[in-house]
Amino acid sequence: MKFHDHISCSGLWKAPERDLSSVLLDLNENQFLHKFLAGFIANELKPQDLFAYPNYQPLLNELSQYCKVSTDSLLLTNGADQAIDLVIRSVFSPGDRVVVPSPIFSFYYQMLEVNGVVPVIVGFEKQAEKFVLPTEAVLQSLQTSHGLILCNPNNPLGVRIDPEQLKVLVEACVRQDKPMIVDECYFEYLQQSCLDTFGAVRQLFVIRSFSKYFGLAGLRLGYVVMRPESVRELLKVRGPWDVNHVAVKAALFCLQNQQALQQAHDNLAQIKSEIVEVCRANSIVVYESDTNFLLLQDERDGRLANAFAQANIRVSNCSQYPHSFGLLNNLLRVAVPSSSDLKTFLMALLRGSCSAACLSDVKLKYWIAQRPALRTCGVSR
Ligand SMILES: Cc1ncc(COP(=O)(O)O)c(C=O)c1O
Repeated sequence: MKFHDHISCSGLWKAPERDLSSVLLDLNENQFLHKFLAGFIANELKPQDLFAYPNYQPLLNELSQYCKVSTDSLLLTNGADQAIDLVIRSVFSPGDRVVVPSPIFSFYYQMLEVNGVVPVIVGFEKQAEKFVLPTEAVLQSLQTSHGLILCNPNNPLGVRIDPEQLKVLVEACVRQDKPMIVDECYFEYLQQSCLDTFGAVRQLFVIRSFSKYFGLAGLRLGYVVMRPESVRELLKVRGPWDVNHVAVKAALFCLQNQQALQQAHDNLAQIKSEIVEVCRANSIVVYESDTNFLLLQDERDGRLANAFAQANIRVSNCSQYPHSFGLLNNLLRVAVPSSSDLKTFLMALLRGSCSAACLSDVKLKYWIAQRPALRTCGVSR
């Protein structure tokens, strides 16, 4: 017996073992929806949601309004991960070359590899502490490639693509009739979507997730927005019941209660800007982000990472991120913590920012207590 050559030769990304009692800031999960989701579990779930096969139509109807597209332009998937797998498998063939501005969410590299598709890596550039997409280089590589993959806003970099640049790239893919995947898993934090302008484009596959803004990472729900004829093709590949019914119900609950989500989002935005301010006041380099996570610069000795580890806070060290051209050396990616974890987070941040205990705990607590916005987030309680 023999496995497919491309699969045998591929690397393996294994999900990390995680102690769920830690403060989980390493995978960009939404930390702000405890009460909201507890309400869903207590009031909405019924035994039938577990024993019956799912019914997708109510969610498709609600989602079509949310995305402002027709229901037949939507394909539900088992997480955005499955969407990535399905689209890559369906539109690219072994030996194809696909332009991948990098770094990008690393599952893309794996799915390209197992399908024998060659990533044409074009590196992001750093200009004045900002990560910038090199549009000209992307356009040039596209001419000799079969498609393009973008992530907007980008994970792990946290930045958005300039709308004018995006327009140029979509137009190039349309002109050359090449598939373009745009990953919008963090779209809600940016509120700009290429669907607003290019919803009807045949070459466009927009991938989204319920794992981030909607806080349903554990239930595994994503979707693709594309032309109805493309949905019909991908439905031949996706299993008929790949998306579970609890996820469907939870997503409906989220879409029908968007005011509560907006409140959680406002809370996140407030805490995020406080953290940025604390970093700047303490000479910690923090990068601009259009997402629910931040990139923090650690020292070479990893003192910030150590301080987080000692406080039982999980963060993601991006130094080894594939195809990052040194852009992410000693950068820590951290999801914005909820108000209940913020004090622990800030104490670790401040402890890790200066040489051995230059601030005593008493001073730290006093310093944090002086921050009015932190007090309104309930930190001093
Ligand atoms: C850019 C991006 N795309 C896709 C995914 C996968 O999302 P899901 O949890 O819906 O599979 C992630 C998850 O972190 C992501 O950051």
